[in-house]
Amino acid sequence: MRFKKNKLFIEKVEGLKLVKKFGTPTYCYSLRKLRDNIRNFQKSFSTINPILCFSVKSNSNLQILKEIKKSGMGADVVSKGEMMQALKAGISPKKIVFSGVGKKTEELKFAIDKKILLINAESESEIFEIERLAKLKKKIVDVGIRLNPNIDAKTLKKISTGKHEDKFGLTEKAFLNILNKFRNSKFVQIKCLSVHIGSQITDYKPYSKMINVLDRLLEKSKYVFDYIDLGGGIGIQYEKKTKLFNYKKYNEIIKNFLRKYKVKIIFEPGRSIIANSAVLFAQIIYIKSTTKKKFIILDAAMNDLMRPALYGSYHNIIPLIKNNKRNKKIHDFVGPVCETTDKFLSVKGFYHLEEKEYVAISDVGAYGMSLSSNYNLRPKACEILIENNLSKLILKRQKLSNII
Ligand code: LLP
Repeated sequence: MRFKKNKLFIEKVEGLKLVKKFGTPTYCYSLRKLRDNIRNFQKSFSTINPILCFSVKSNSNLQILKEIKKSGMGADVVSKGEMMQALKAGISPKKIVFSGVGKKTEELKFAIDKKILLINAESESEIFEIERLAKLKKKIVDVGIRLNPNIDAKTLKKISTGKHEDKFGLTEKAFLNILNKFRNSKFVQIKCLSVHIGSQITDYKPYSKMINVLDRLLEKSKYVFDYIDLGGGIGIQYEKKTKLFNYKKYNEIIKNFLRKYKVKIIFEPGRSIIANSAVLFAQIIYIKSTTKKKFIILDAAMNDLMRPALYGSYHNIIPLIKNNKRNKKIHDFVGPVCETTDKFLSVKGFYHLEEKEYVAISDVGAYGMSLSSNYNLRPKACEILIENNLSKLILKRQKLSNII
C-alpha cells in the first residue's frame, strides 16, 4: 500500500477505482503482503522446522484459507465451523489442531471422525469426554493438554490468556495429575503439550519465561511428548511507536530448548500472518463540526470492525486521496451505530476531508471481518483480494434480504 501522486494504491490498483467498483464498506486484502508475511514467518523459524497452523479465528475467508493451504500451512481451529471451513479450503486434517475450552460432544465427534492432528484439551472433563467417544468409536485419539503457565503476556488485558485468572488451560498441578491419569489410556494418547499466553505480544520476554516454565514442567514430569504447541500471539506494528517483534531472539530461545528436548514445535499464528495485509475502505457520509471537533461519520461502523470499540485498539486511518491542506482540529472518525464506543480513531489534525470522500482503515486483516456482526441490522461488508493489477471479490456483501 502506498501513495502515488497523492492517490492511495493497493499493489497496482488505485483505491478509488476499487471503492467505485465494489462500494463500501469493503475489506481489501493484498495477496502479495499475505504471501510476504507467510514467507517471513517461515523463514524466521526455518532452523527449527515447525508445523505452522494458521489461526482461523483471525480470518476465516475461504479464499484466504486456500492461499494458506497453498503455502503448506495447516490450521488452528476453535469450532466445528472453522474446522469445516479449513477442510473446505483443502487443508489436510493431519495439519489441523483443535483448541478451545468448551468443545461440545458433537464437535469432538467430528474432529475424531476427521482424524485431525491433535485435539488440544483444556480440562480433565474434556479428556474424559474424548476418551468416552474414542472408546465408543473404537479409535485411538491423539490429544494435547493445554498448560496455563501463569505468565503475564504484557498485552491488552482483554486478550491475555496465560494467567491463572484467565479461563484457559490447566495449572501445573492439574496438568501433572492428568498426565498420570491418562498415561496408560487405551483410547487417548497424550502427544502434545500446548500453551498460548495471549495475543499482540510485541516483546519476546514473556515467551522466554513461558519456555522456562515448560522446561521446568518437562523435567518434573519426565514425560516424552511428540509435540510442543507454542500457540500464536506474535504482535504487529499497528502504531509506528510499537517496536517490532524480535523473531530472531524467539527462534534462538526455542532452538536452545530443542537441544534438550527432541520434539516437534507447532505454532498457531493468526495476526502476524494476516493483520497488515488488509484495509477497510469506508466512505464519509457526513462531517459534523463542533467548536472543538470534527466528527467524520463513516459508513463503516463497530459492527464491521469491533477492535477499537472492544479493546480500545489503534488502527491508523488514511485518505484515499491525500489533500495537501491540513485541518488542525481534533478529528473523531465514527460510525453510524448507536453507541458512543462506535469510534475508530481520534486524532489531532488530519488531511482536509470532504463529505463523500473515502478513507482506508489500516491493519484490519486479523479479527476484522471475523469479529464482525449484524448489530443494528447492518449487512456485513464484502471482501476483495488484490493481486498485482487484478481485483477479485472473495466474499459477497451481505444483502438486507439475507438478514431480514
Ligand atoms: N492459538 C490460540 C489457542 C489462541 O487462542 C489464539 C488467539 C491464537 C492461537 C492466535 O493468536 P494470534 O497469533 O492471532 O495473536 N480478538 C482479539 C484477539 C483474540 C485472540 C484470541 N486467541 C483481537 O482482535 O486482538
